[in-house]
Amino acid sequence: MRIAIAGKGGSGKTTLAGTLARLLARRGQQVIALDGDTNPNLAQALGIAAGTELVALPGDILVRREDPNADPPSELSMPVHEVLERYGTVGPDGVRLLVMGHVEHAGRGCKCRAHSVARYVIGDLLAYANGEGAVVVDMEAGLEHLSRGTTRYVDALLAVAEPYYRSMETARRVYELAAELGIDDVRLVANKVRDPADSDALRAYAERHGLAIAGEIPFDELVLEADRRAEPLLDVAGADAPAVRAMERLASTLLANGR
Ligand SMILES: Nc1ncnc2c1ncn2[C@@H]1O[C@H](COP(=O)(O)OP(=O)(O)OP(=O)(O)O)[C@@H](O)[C@H]1O
Ligand SMILES: [Mg+2]
Repeated sequence: MRIAIAGKGGSGKTTLAGTLARLLARRGQQVIALDGDTNPNLAQALGIAAGTELVALPGDILVRREDPNADPPSELSMPVHEVLERYGTVGPDGVRLLVMGHVEHAGRGCKCRAHSVARYVIGDLLAYANGEGAVVVDMEAGLEHLSRGTTRYVDALLAVAEPYYRSMETARRVYELAAELGIDDVRLVANKVRDPADSDALRAYAERHGLAIAGEIPFDELVLEADRRAEPLLDVAGADAPAVRAMERLASTLLANGR
């Protein structure tokens, strides 16, 4: 199962990606979390100690195939298990984190290659993800990953939306682009739902536009508390925290669908 998490800025993608990755790992899945944000912060959401050196996936692990008509035209220069060993960092609950290349200097930085590397790594993780493995990709806000096809090889895409119009609109565009990429399983996750009015608004929007809903996560003060302490949600809130319970339900849904 390879899942990407997309949506508008600040909608809760990284919180969900980090927590979901650990919840899946606690259920016995071997989980790889890929930080696809050029301003990476999934390590913090997972609970990897600040200051841990994370080596971003280098551009030169991608090579063109010798056959000019090869499809796809490029491939990784090493088997994906070697990519995991060389560039992966193991964090809490055994989740292995990979970090996409990021912009290091102002004024320089076409990210085409970084996105291509991420795409082929996700592609090559198929065999792994078909077993007891799960790949969770935390995406940058907006639509760039989709327009660049970075997530072409994921099996499912979750579009996180908050209960306000612009957030829901972004999720709808995520849906459309994901469908164009051929991702069959695209679903909305409603986040920061404060009351029935929020829930109704999201559900009405989803129904109007034919968007399936994978789950609903309540607004939870403990998420903010964890953020203030710069600690992962799971280490601050117990399993009974409303947001964690909702993410557990989402994990169950995903696992049931993935089988
Ligand atoms: N269910 C929730 N309840 C309350 N606060 C939440 C919830 N989910 C996320 N937040 C808060 O929303 C803010 C944004 O969360 P997060 O960083 O996960 O979003 P993001 O979509 O990854 O953002 P970015 O687009 O910047 O990458 C954080 O302050 C986080 O604590
Ligand atoms: Mg984020």
